[in-house]
Amino acid sequence: MKKTRILFAVVILIAFFASCKNESDNYIDPRGTDYAGSESCIQCHQVQYNMSLQSSHLKATAPAISGNVLGNFDKGNHTFIYDKDTKLVMEKRNDSLYQVLYKNGKEVQAHRFEIVFGSKHAQTSVYWRNNNTYELPLSYYNAINNWATSPGFPADKPYFDRKIERDCYACHSSNISSRSVNQKSDEVNFLSADVEDVINKKTIVYGIDCERCHGPAKKHAEFHLKNPDIKVANSIVSYKTLNRQQKLDACALCHAGNDGMKMKSRFDFKPGDNLSEFYRSTRDPNDTTFDVHGNQFRLMSQSKCFIKSEKMDCITCHNPHENASKNLASYSKICMSCHQGLKHNDTTLKTMSGSLLANNCVECHMPKKMSNAIKFQISNSKQMSNYILRTHKIGIYSGNKK
Ligand code: HEC
Ligand code: HEC
Ligand code: HEC
Ligand code: HEC
Ligand code: HEC
Ligand code: HEC
Ligand code: HEC
Repeated sequence: MKKTRILFAVVILIAFFASCKNESDNYIDPRGTDYAGSESCIQCHQVQYNMSLQSSHLKATAPAISGNVLGNFDKGNHTFIYDKDTKLVMEKRNDSLYQVLYKNGKEVQAHRFEIVFGSKHAQTSVYWRNNNTYELPLSYYNAINNWATSPGFPADKPYFDRKIERDCYACHSSNISSRSVNQKSDEVNFLSADVEDVINKKTIVYGIDCERCHGPAKKHAEFHLKNPDIKVANSIVSYKTLNRQQKLDACALCHAGNDGMKMKSRFDFKPGDNLSEFYRSTRDPNDTTFDVHGNQFRLMSQSKCFIKSEKMDCITCHNPHENASKNLASYSKICMSCHQGLKHNDTTLKTMSGSLLANNCVECHMPKKMSNAIKFQISNSKQMSNYILRTHKIGIYSGNKK
C-alpha cells in the first residue's frame, strides 16, 4: 500500500516536472513529448522547410481561414441550385465563411467552413458538430473553377450528415485525437490512448508535416542544438538506410488506396515500419481496376519499369518536399536515365517529331485517366463530371498508336 502511494507521488512529481520543462520550451506537440513540431526544423533545414511550405503535403489539411479556402463567396459562381425552392449559397460573414441553405428565400441552416482538405485539384471542407467534423455538401473543383457536389453527395437535395472518418485525417493530417499525449508517443497507455469517438481540436496537427514522414525528431533537434559542430545526423531515421520495401511503404501508407483491412492506426506508422502490420489490401495486386485517385503505389507496381528495374520507387521521380512538377520534360530526363538508346518504331516516330517525343514520355506512357472513385455534379445538371489524374501504370497505351 505504502509502495503504491510513494509510486503515486513520484508519478505526480514527474508529471509536474515534465510539464514545467515543456512550458519553458513553449511548444508542446499533441503527439507526444518526443515530437518537436515543424517550426523547430527551420533553423537547420531551411531548404526543406521552404519547399514544404508550398507543397500539397503540408497543405493537405488547413484551418479554413480566408487565404486557405478556394472558390467564390458572395459574388460570381457561389450558388448551387437543388430545385426551384432550395439553394445553397457560399457567404462570407464577418471573418468566417459559410454554406447557407435557403428554402423559398428563407435561411434554414448555415454551416461554417472550419477545416479544408486539399488545394491542387479539389478542396472539400468540414464543419464542427458535437466534437466531430462533418463534410460540407459542396466542394470546389479547380478543373471547372466552380463549386459542385462533394464526392458521393446528392445533387437533388442538400445533405449535411456525412461524418468525416478518422481515416481521412490519417492520410491528410499529422495528428487528430480525442486526447493530448504528455508522455513519449510510444509510451501511450490506457490513460492517454485515443479511444473516444471525438476529436479534441487542440490535438490537430494540420497537413503532412516533417515528423509525419521522418518520425519524432525532438531528440534529434536537441542533440544538434547542443552539438552544432557535429554534421552527421543523430537520433533520426535516415531514408538512405531503408531498403526498397521500407521506402515504398513510407509512401504507400497513404498512396495505396483504402480498401483493405486495418490493423493499426496510420498515425502510428514511423519510417522503417512495415506497412503490412498496419494495413493489408484484400485485392489482387494484378487487378486492372485500381483507381487513378489515391492508388499511385499499386498502379506503379504493375509497371514493367517497376518490376524489372528492381530499384524504382516513388523518390526516383518525386522530391517528397516538393509538388509534382508541372514540367513534364523534367520527368522525361528521369525516364531516359533508364531508357538510353531507346528506339520507337516508325509508326510512332511519324506521330511526333523527335524532340517533342523526347520531352513527352509521360504524355503517352502515363496518360491522364478518369477516376471511377470520384465524380461530381454541378448546379442544375444531371450529368456527372469526371475527375482526371495521370495514371502511375507506366505502359504502352492503345491511345498512343493514333
Ligand atoms: C540544430 C540543428 C538541427 C535541427 C533543429 C534539426 N536538425 Fe535535422 N539534421 C541536422 C544535422 C546537422 C543533420 C545532418 C546533416 C544533414 O543531413 O543535413 C540533420 C539531418 C536530418 C535528416 C537527414 C537524416 C539522414 O541521414 O538522411 C533529417 C530527415 C532531419 N535532419 C530531420 C529533421 C527534422 C524533421 C527536424 C525538426 C523536427 C530537424 N531535423 C531539426 C540538424 C538539425
Ligand atoms: C500521411 C499520408 C501521406 C504520406 C506518408 C505520403 N503522402 Fe504524398 N500525399 C498525401 C496526400 C493526402 C496528398 C494530397 C495532398 C493534397 O493535394 O491536398 C499527397 C500528395 C502527394 C503528391 C502530389 C503533390 C502535388 O501537389 O503535386 C506527391 C508527388 C506525393 N504525395 C508523393 C509522396 C511520396 C513520394 C511519399 C513518400 C516519401 C508520400 N507522398 C508520402 C499523403 C501522404
Ligand atoms: C512526404 C514525406 C516527407 C515530408 C512531409 C518531409 N520529408 Fe524530408 N524526406 C523525405 C524522404 C523520403 C527523404 C529522402 C529523400 C531522398 O533520399 O532522396 C527526405 C529527406 C530529408 C532530408 C535529407 C536531405 C534531403 O533533402 O534529402 C532532410 C534534412 C529532410 N528530409 C528534412 C525534412 C524537413 C525539415 C521536413 C519538414 C519541413 C520534411 N523533411 C518533410 C520525406 C519527407
Ligand atoms: C488512404 C489515404 C487517403 C484517405 C483515407 C483519404 N485520402 Fe484524400 N487523398 C489521398 C491522396 C494520396 C490524395 C492525392 C492524390 C490523388 O488524388 O491520388 C488525396 C486527395 C484528396 C483531395 C484532393 C486534394 C487536392 O489537392 O486536389 C481531397 C479533397 C481529399 N483527398 C479529401 C479526402 C476526404 C474528405 C477523405 C475522407 C472521406 C479522404 N480524402 C480520404 C489520400 C487519402
Ligand atoms: C529505374 C529505371 C526506369 C525508369 C526511371 C523508367 N523505366 Fe521504363 N522500364 C524500365 C525497365 C527495366 C523496363 C523493362 C524493359 C524490358 O522489359 O526489357 C521498362 C519498360 C518500359 C516500357 C515498356 C512497358 C511495357 O509494358 O511493355 C515503357 C513504355 C517504359 N518503360 C516507359 C518509361 C517512361 C515513360 C518512364 C518515365 C516516366 C520510364 N519508363 C522510367 C526501367 C525504368
Ligand atoms: C517514373 C516516374 C514516377 C514515379 C516512379 C512515381 N511518379 Fe508520381 N507522378 C509522376 C508524374 C509524371 C506525375 C504527373 C505530374 C503532372 O502531371 O504534373 C506524377 C504525379 C503524382 C501525384 C500527383 C497526382 C496529381 O495529378 O496531382 C502523386 C500524388 C504522385 N505522383 C505520387 C506518387 C507516389 C506515391 C509514387 C510511388 C508509389 C510515385 N508517384 C511514383 C511520375 C512518377
Ligand atoms: C507519341 C507518344 C509517345 C511518346 C511521346 C513516347 N512514346 Fe514510347 N512508345 C510509344 C508507343 C506507341 C510505343 C510502342 C510502339 C513502339 O515501340 O514505337 C512505345 C514504346 C516505348 C517503349 C518500349 C519499347 C520496346 O522496345 O519495348 C519504351 C521503353 C518507351 N516507349 C519509352 C519512352 C520514353 C522514355 C519516352 C520519352 C523519351 C517515350 N517513350 C515517348 C509512344 C510514345
